Amino acid sequence: MALKELEGKIYVSDYNESVNKSLSLPQKVRIFDTSLRDGEQLPGVTYRGEDKIEIARALDKLGVDIIEAGFPVNSEGELATAKKISSLGLKSKVCGLARAITNDIDACIQADVEIVHTFISTSDIHLKYQMNKTREQVYEEAVTAVEYSKSHGFKTLFSAMDASRTEPNYLIKVFNGAVGAGADIINVPDTVGVMHPPAMRELIKRIRNEVKVPIDVHCHNDFGLAVANSLAAVEAGADGVQVSMNGLGERAGNASLEQIVMSLHCLYGVRTGVKTERLYETSKLIERLSEVTLPPFQPIVGSTAFAHESGIHAHAVLKHASTFEPMLPELVGQKRNIVIGKDSGKASIEVALRQLGFEVGDAKLLMRIVERIKEVSLAKKRIYNEDIRAIASDVLGKGKRKALVELDEFVVTTGNKIKPSATLKIKFKGDTVESKGIGVGPVDATAKALEAAFPKRKLKLVEYNLRAITGGTDALADVEVKVEVNGKPYIGHAVDGDIVMASVNAMVRALDESLAMQSKE
Ligand code: KIV
Ligand code: ZN
Repeated sequence: MALKELEGKIYVSDYNESVNKSLSLPQKVRIFDTSLRDGEQLPGVTYRGEDKIEIARALDKLGVDIIEAGFPVNSEGELATAKKISSLGLKSKVCGLARAITNDIDACIQADVEIVHTFISTSDIHLKYQMNKTREQVYEEAVTAVEYSKSHGFKTLFSAMDASRTEPNYLIKVFNGAVGAGADIINVPDTVGVMHPPAMRELIKRIRNEVKVPIDVHCHNDFGLAVANSLAAVEAGADGVQVSMNGLGERAGNASLEQIVMSLHCLYGVRTGVKTERLYETSKLIERLSEVTLPPFQPIVGSTAFAHESGIHAHAVLKHASTFEPMLPELVGQKRNIVIGKDSGKASIEVALRQLGFEVGDAKLLMRIVERIKEVSLAKKRIYNEDIRAIASDVLGKGKRKALVELDEFVVTTGNKIKPSATLKIKFKGDTVESKGIGVGPVDATAKALEAAFPKRKLKLVEYNLRAITGGTDALADVEVKVEVNGKPYIGHAVDGDIVMASVNAMVRALDESLAMQSKE
């Protein structure tokens, strides 16, 4: 099938384009981010006040329209943080969540938010088992809450919780009651993620026809359909989507911001205000602060989303990216990664060798290196630069590269009554550099000591993965780290019976790798 180039950056299917013409899509969709509220409701996620402020600033830079800064009535701390976020002078509008209760709305007022997001459950199942209230009571409470918020001059967003399981005539009645009371936007939550896209289209179409204010949709991902349902809602007339970065949220999460935004931009040709090139960086921030690690194959922001190992794919991508990439990685702040492994072909191994400083002109020698790399990768899970370098040096008859930086000595102290600290002695350019670090644990202290040893190189440990190779307390620790040196990432890897030893060696190797690569630049 023919493919068309869009904006010189992405190739989309002609099918999408012709179907898009038959849809009445909005020009732009409003992005409401709930990472700081629903995202934090994911079990295990707790942000500190300063984390939330950092995330709010990042979301603002990303260009979301609305940031839900929290549920201010929850605690003094949550109110204070929402107030701080409201005072930052962000371009994004700051919103606070409130049940349809005066006290909750007062907390939003105290937090100085620009938008009050008030909600009440409307489905019979929630009315009976969660609220013990009648439909009439809920209707009255919804209207009163919106009136109260509006009477204090707040832009008000009204959500009918569990809208997708609410009797439709009653749902429309509640929404119109809220609109009559002054609601500026109504939100249609699929609270337990039970809709499928055609049903969502039907529901939104009806609401669009009968309710005369902008519509948000808020989809949960219990069946993995949150993104598809949100997009179906946009097709049917929703003009805003409630999303969270990395899809974090209650239970199976919310519709993921990055997937929604990229689908709208690339597949539907609909704009948002999001600066897509900031997506990866923002996702990494959420990953670090939430401590929820993404699977590598997570769309858009996962570590393999733009990685190619198979020889056929890598070869084609190196010739023309669009052969096996639906968008350029740079569009979302990612980088293409040609991974060397058992499926790699000659072309990608040649690229990897060149990056490591080996120009292999002789076709026979190159094939020998390719075969050796394949042999090693069959026996080993991952192939590192150090493996490729060792094989190439061996085949080409060159000596093994001498490490440019080496660990000479290290001492770590830790305990329940002292702050973990590390002292390192590192051999570098004929000198021995000594440095100290204090951290939350011995590995952190070691990372801090290494950073302190090379202040000009701006070292930052950005990823740390530990795997026990065998069971038991004497298991071998297999550590892989990603260390940024002057803003560029380098991988280091080490195995040792001692976790801290494996960690420090992996970090020193990443630093060594950076020095080796920089000497080639
Ligand atoms: O899932 C939900 O219904 C919610 C509401 C508060 C909008 O998060
Ligand atoms: Zn929710």
